Amino acid sequence: MPEQSPEPQAVVAPVTRSTIFIVATLAADDDGLDTVRAWCADVAALVRSVGKRVPDGNLSCVCGFGSGAWDRLFGAPRPAELHPFREFGAGDRRAIATPGDLLLHIRADRMDLCFELATLLVGRLGDAVSVVDEVHGFRYFDLRSMVGFVDGTENPAGREALEFTLVDDDPEFINGSYVLVQKYLHDMAGWNALPVETQERIIGRTKLADIELDEAVKPTSSHSSLTTLEEDGREIKILRDNMPFGRPGSGEFGTYFIGYARSPAPIEQMLENMFVGRPPGNYDRLLDFSHAVTGGLFFVPSADLLEALADRSPQAADADTEEAAAPALAPVAVPAPAPASQDGSLSIGSLKGTPQYE
Ligand code: HEM
Repeated sequence: MPEQSPEPQAVVAPVTRSTIFIVATLAADDDGLDTVRAWCADVAALVRSVGKRVPDGNLSCVCGFGSGAWDRLFGAPRPAELHPFREFGAGDRRAIATPGDLLLHIRADRMDLCFELATLLVGRLGDAVSVVDEVHGFRYFDLRSMVGFVDGTENPAGREALEFTLVDDDPEFINGSYVLVQKYLHDMAGWNALPVETQERIIGRTKLADIELDEAVKPTSSHSSLTTLEEDGREIKILRDNMPFGRPGSGEFGTYFIGYARSPAPIEQMLENMFVGRPPGNYDRLLDFSHAVTGGLFFVPSADLLEALADRSPQAADADTEEAAAPALAPVAVPAPAPASQDGSLSIGSLKGTPQYE
């Protein structure tokens, strides 16, 4: 029988009505690391237990690990493109990095399911982590974002969604994904004061019917233009599942951005285009009314690897690596991580079977 490829986590999941996003940091001492590793093997069973109580509730959970956390928890081997969140910005526009070791992306059609699962998952982690951000997102009418436009229309679907989100060229990490999150707060009074036609030119689509503006009228600074990437004549997509959130009584109106891809490079390129501009200065006017207050990059191991990670430890992994390596005479220089883009190329090659950095 051919060897089966690892089962991915629920990265490509149906669009749901409710979401809880949790970002946590590991405790400073190493005492909790065993707890977090053991927890990795429990996640799937907890999702099953809660999910089975409402069979049509579409409950799922994706867990990701930040760059520093990966080293502390699991050591080598590490995902080839996992690095700390890269900041982008110009002037007042800043895509900032904020602390985060662990990401939970819990989705369901009912908030009670998300709430129950979050309670169990966070409860089991106990003092091993501190939750630094928790956002409860909701579906807003017909998949509207907080700024009133339909969000998610141009997402890849079906096989294309899998091709754009699952790693296939990093042998130890097949069917993992990278996920980037940012929490945005909006100046809704300023945004709502704009005529609808101006808003439409900022997004690049019509507001009511969600139709892409004709190229002749769509500005190159529109959100949809700046987040459209092409390499070798083919569009490079990411999979988003943004959710609105807020507290009207406190004047808080937000969008939690979440983007999955098989490499961080396209998501980072989109951020650079939005915040710095393509070309520089031709930036995303949505950012005149929205600012990012968090930013994190995480690696999402396949579901099979997540379970197996429970038995890893950095010491054991290092020992394995040392055994496999030829006796070292001198320290080996570690190459600097490749930048997101140097020559306008995304350096992610074609989608299948090509090394991402040549
Ligand atoms: C303030 C936060 C954001 C809001 C409210 C927002 C909203 C939207 C809306 C309404 C659309 C059009 C419909 C659709 O195709 O989904 C869209 C498209 C898109 N957005 Fe965003 N977005 C935000 C942040 C981001 C960020 C940070 C990225 C990437 C780093 C991004 C990437 C994309 C992509 C790739 C598209 C599809 C473009 C196309 O193919 O036409 N968005 N967004």
